[in-house]
Amino acid sequence: MMKTISEVGEIREFCKELKKQGKTIALVPTMGFLHKGHISLIKKAKTLADIVIVSRFVNPTQFAPNEDLDAYPNDRERDFQATSEAGVDILFEPVKEAMYFENHGTWVEVPELAKGLCGQTRPIHFRGVCTIVTKLFNLIMPDYAVFGEKDYQQLTIIRRMVRDLNMNVEIVAGEIIREEDGLAMSSRNAYLTKEERSLAPFIRKGLLLLAEKAKNGEHCAKNLYAVFAHFIQEHIPSARIDYVTMVDKDELVELETLKDSAVVAVAVYLGKARLLDNILIESK
Ligand code: PAF
Repeated sequence: MMKTISEVGEIREFCKELKKQGKTIALVPTMGFLHKGHISLIKKAKTLADIVIVSRFVNPTQFAPNEDLDAYPNDRERDFQATSEAGVDILFEPVKEAMYFENHGTWVEVPELAKGLCGQTRPIHFRGVCTIVTKLFNLIMPDYAVFGEKDYQQLTIIRRMVRDLNMNVEIVAGEIIREEDGLAMSSRNAYLTKEERSLAPFIRKGLLLLAEKAKNGEHCAKNLYAVFAHFIQEHIPSARIDYVTMVDKDELVELETLKDSAVVAVAVYLGKARLLDNILIESK
């Protein structure tokens, strides 16, 4: 049966005891409102370790004051059911006061990787993510932690943080899980109206078109961006592209020309949602 823990001291002691017993732990950090993408991360975690822990915490420090912290979707009952059905061993759901002291003043940052892509519109976001993930790692001491590739920049930053700070955890990536029509699963899809939801798959279609053009010889980033922008303009005129950027897959440096392969990451505003997606493209 799944155990739920909300106390910081209790999760620390519990995990210490598991380690003493020689058990390995895989952590899946989440902000709740779980969907099939999270479930696939949990399934992956179950193949890695003896014990799977899911954290469920809407981390306030990764939201700027003008962002959707208060509106972030939340359904505790549904999350409880989904995690217990998925065979999670421990659901860790701390309250804000347990995770942050009032005068919290220590931050973990990877500024070089956090300045582009989402970092341009969300300058404090990745500092908040790195800090909470470090705190979770310190409490749980997982052998593995699983993160989705939809948040490609987040995954890359966390890998770098773990490497740079010699953290004793292996970061494992989970592929993007999509709805049948191609839309990348995200808790924020809940913000979409019915009409917006019917248009949102064009983001993926635009990326597939861009990838096809790249394969057929269009290697100039600006021209590839234009392909995506025109497609979105044509199919979702109400959307606004935050960014479409071709980057080196490890360093996240923007590339002017495609050499062998690269990641194209996008963020698109549609109604109240800001939707992320990305694709690995190849020159041949
Ligand atoms: O990807 C998320 O849901 C969050 O950024 C994370 C990793 C749980 C940190 O709050």
